[in-house]
Amino acid sequence: MKKYLVYVLLTGIIYSCKNTNENITELKESSSQIKTNDDIDKKVNNLLAKMTLEEKIGQMNQYSGFWDVTGPSPEKEEAAIKYEHIKKGYVGSMLNVKEGVAHVRAIQKIAVEESRLGIPIIFAFDVIHGFKTIGPIPIAESASWDIEAIKKLTQNAAEEAAAYGINWTFAPMVDISRDARWGRVMEGGGEDPYLGSKIAVARVSGFQGDDLGATNTIAACAKHFAAYGFSESGREYNTVDVGTSTLNNIVFPPFKAATEAGVKTFMNGFNELNGIPATGNAYLQRDVLKGDWGFQGFVVSDWASMKEMVAHGYAKDKKEASELAVKAGSDMDMESYAYVNELADLVKEGIVEESLIDDAVKRILRVKFELGLFEDPYKYCDEQRQKEVSGKQEFIDGILDMAKKSIVLLKNENNLLPLKKKNQKIALIGALANDKTSPLGNWRLAGEPETAVTVLEGMEKYTGNSLNYAKGADLVIPNSEIEMPIEIAVNETDKSDFTEAIALAKKSDVVVMVLGEHAFQSGEARSRSNIGLPGVQQQLLEAVYKVNKNIVLVLTNGRPLTIPWADENIPAIVEAWQLGMQSGNAIAQVLYGDYNPSGKLPMTFPRNVGQIPIYYNHKNTGRPATVNNDVYWSHYIDVENTPLYSFGYGLSYTTFSYANLRVNKGGENKIEVSVDLTNTGDVKGKEVAQLYIHDKFASITRPVRELKGFELVELAPNETKTIRFTLTEKELGFYDNQANYIVEPGEFDIYVGGNSDAKLMSNFLLE
Ligand code: NOJ
Repeated sequence: MKKYLVYVLLTGIIYSCKNTNENITELKESSSQIKTNDDIDKKVNNLLAKMTLEEKIGQMNQYSGFWDVTGPSPEKEEAAIKYEHIKKGYVGSMLNVKEGVAHVRAIQKIAVEESRLGIPIIFAFDVIHGFKTIGPIPIAESASWDIEAIKKLTQNAAEEAAAYGINWTFAPMVDISRDARWGRVMEGGGEDPYLGSKIAVARVSGFQGDDLGATNTIAACAKHFAAYGFSESGREYNTVDVGTSTLNNIVFPPFKAATEAGVKTFMNGFNELNGIPATGNAYLQRDVLKGDWGFQGFVVSDWASMKEMVAHGYAKDKKEASELAVKAGSDMDMESYAYVNELADLVKEGIVEESLIDDAVKRILRVKFELGLFEDPYKYCDEQRQKEVSGKQEFIDGILDMAKKSIVLLKNENNLLPLKKKNQKIALIGALANDKTSPLGNWRLAGEPETAVTVLEGMEKYTGNSLNYAKGADLVIPNSEIEMPIEIAVNETDKSDFTEAIALAKKSDVVVMVLGEHAFQSGEARSRSNIGLPGVQQQLLEAVYKVNKNIVLVLTNGRPLTIPWADENIPAIVEAWQLGMQSGNAIAQVLYGDYNPSGKLPMTFPRNVGQIPIYYNHKNTGRPATVNNDVYWSHYIDVENTPLYSFGYGLSYTTFSYANLRVNKGGENKIEVSVDLTNTGDVKGKEVAQLYIHDKFASITRPVRELKGFELVELAPNETKTIRFTLTEKELGFYDNQANYIVEPGEFDIYVGGNSDAKLMSNFLLE
């Protein structure tokens, strides 16, 4: 019904556009000469001078084209209002117009030809792990630690989205999180601010490129500012309360890095931070972002987060919410209908100064100019380009390459992996082994359904033979997927297919079991309080294990899982996340040893939920683990302090050794670190050499370890390479509680190795 309504409206739009706009020619002509920032500012000011208050506020208003997709559904009649508002010039941006250039053009045409000033609309979309070509979810991609490859894949996603008329993505999500219960950890770069910052920069520059006006780049958006990843107890949309030190040293760095990389936009968040909703938070948006960091772009609210300030208990109604948001520096309202309905009155009543509106509008218009939308509002609307670019072979190759790089080998006893291509009877078990949906992950809004290569298909294609497969058990109750919003019902009881799987396992040499989460068990609004294998999968695993211990467990999931039993009993475990359309091919190539896994965990895997939050860069406490470990030290009495798998951890089909750690002082407080890395196994492999520091005594206590460098190195068997790192003040300092960055002299320990538990150690004194 809703789809039909949209269709009718759009069809009407396509056939009824008429040019009533007198200023468009003038705008086009003058904007085509704009090249420098000064020129843009001049142009923006000229345009602003012509705008009525309502038109200015219109630029600060964003509507969803397909309003049921990523948020709660507003009333149906609002659809009609939206199109009326476009005509009046009351819509600065649309999101979720995903159908391609015909729709984008139709909407743009109304804005450009029917509104008084003809200001083009900027089209936004959540390009989180691809547009049409769906790749690995961000946490998977982050496990590659391959910054160049991440940038390249992001460029591809930008090119494809731009070919569909999209100018702006709501990505990257750079929220650091230490809580795997939070479903959105699938969207981020993991738990570490250093790695997270590198990834943030790669993604921002991947989307935006060197020329935002090119037809293969789009504006990026660092989100969600700030601290959304610290939602209490990992429960979605929950309260956040974090202290100054964590905020400055853990939460902010990827956002700051994105700003320095020139990100054009920011999104605030649903959460409150220390009692003030992010959307109405002047400290975050005015003082830090636009003040200290000098951010020149604009800030969009999250979906309806402006009006949700009423539910937070911060604003008494939408009008007050608008006032608080605009004063706090939120420039654009996504789907709250707050600014468009309330701001003009607030200005007329003298409650909000028009200069605040002008500032917001200038920021928004500047980005539109930079995108070249004034030069040609339809420059992203080329049907031929859409056809040529969509799903290009290069993009498919890119997602396959990244999918392989994202896989993390967690355990491989007795070299059970790689599998043998011949003379090995292999059974494949698990509903996820033959699922064409889940590998696509949560954010595949424009993707085509059921387009993932399954593990079954991938393995059969790889070997050229058919494979013995048994589902074992449904993960999801069949036909329980309810579209819009997608919800699933997990099978908690039906074990009727166990028998077939057990019989198959019995007569096989090796059993590959693909277990984990359905695509819609992670992502937004998918917090879980129990992050073990959902449904009857754990029971299936144990039942199969009883008849055949040679199990390769392939996990496909969007977050760290608690799998202590598997870790203790299953000889080989592969973390394969949700790898996108090429998932099955990538997994097959890794399982058969065609590709040697090199992924490393960007997030700690806990032993149980009670350990959460658990992260490698924790503090020592006054009572750390001691040799005696008497009663009164910082620990649990029922589980170790250590995680199941630590941050940075991941194995290979070869082995690596680290030796000769050397630390030398260079000039200007520079520390030169080098180490010899050798491939000590039989096959070629890649290793992520990681460097951690520990600032032993400081005016603000420092974590026991902090990642401060890493390098991805490929080595042939027996080959040794010397890896060099340079530590500068940037790596050695920290933010004090007044948010000043300081570098303090003193003793530092240094660790280098293949994960955050690296044992090879040295130290230095910073003078
Ligand atoms: C809500 C999400 O929190 C945000 O990340 C996303 O960009 C918007 N919806 C738009 O889809």
